[in-house]
Amino acid sequence: MRQDLLGLYGYAAEEIEEILSLSAWMKDRLRRGEKRFSELRDRSVVILFYENSTRTRTSFEFAAKYLGARVVNISVASSSVQKGETLVDTGKTLDAMRTDAIVMRHPMSGAPKLLADTVCAHVVNAGDGMNEHPTQALLDMLTMKERFGTIKGLRVAILGDILHSRVAKSNLFGLTAMGAEVRMFAPRTLVPAGIEQMGAKLCASREEAVEGADVVMGLRIQLERQHAGNFPSLGEYARFYGVNEEVLRGAKPNAAVLHPGPVNRGVELTSGVIDSDQSRIEEQVLSGVAVRMAVLSLICKEEV
Ligand code: CP
Repeated sequence: MRQDLLGLYGYAAEEIEEILSLSAWMKDRLRRGEKRFSELRDRSVVILFYENSTRTRTSFEFAAKYLGARVVNISVASSSVQKGETLVDTGKTLDAMRTDAIVMRHPMSGAPKLLADTVCAHVVNAGDGMNEHPTQALLDMLTMKERFGTIKGLRVAILGDILHSRVAKSNLFGLTAMGAEVRMFAPRTLVPAGIEQMGAKLCASREEAVEGADVVMGLRIQLERQHAGNFPSLGEYARFYGVNEEVLRGAKPNAAVLHPGPVNRGVELTSGVIDSDQSRIEEQVLSGVAVRMAVLSLICKEEV
């Protein structure tokens, strides 16, 4: 594993496979109720989130604790960041305390790279702006691999706010490296320039994106990052762009439904789709703990 996990751009299939294999092993043990591991015994992990989170933050904290690490959560609201301390100075301070790994979420794209260039500790990107969210894509791929036995050859439809989505980009890089076909659909105002050059097949309708898909992934409409006018209203978004039961029928009968969460229920996916037998959304959450355990243990491995 590399020194830091900043994104899946440029990752080879073998590198992703190494993480997914260990994640599957971890998940199997978690399912059996095991929560005591020793891979990070006496290691220190700092969780530094400059943005809100439920799933990612909690699962990284559980992951590090299950592995035996000493974990400190820094709440930016009550830290010296509020006094004007820079990210670089915060990183140097954590380094001086002999921190082994820093898990960071930040609203600015590229912030984890800046931190990684500054500190000796391993840096794991837990989501940076509109750039990447690599552990989310890894947990999505683990969930797909468990469901279908392989990622190679899967047709994955990703629908929603692609423009603002770091999840979409990390999935695109990871899934194409693993040999999956990635189809995307969103209103034109929510499609980033150059997404086809990155390997996605851009579809003209949600029906075209979903047709014959093995996996249908909804993405959250990121209301906090919207500029006015990207779409008329949430109700109209749901009606014309969202995935409902009828749209889902265009996918393969055994297609899996994924969503990184948090879901705007009834907007990107209807409640019927979220709560259907095809939904793997809760499974993704357990995959998240397992993947984060695998990443933290691999990234700190040479020091253990
Ligand atoms: N999927 C995801 O990143 O969720 P949180 O924002 O709750 O961490």
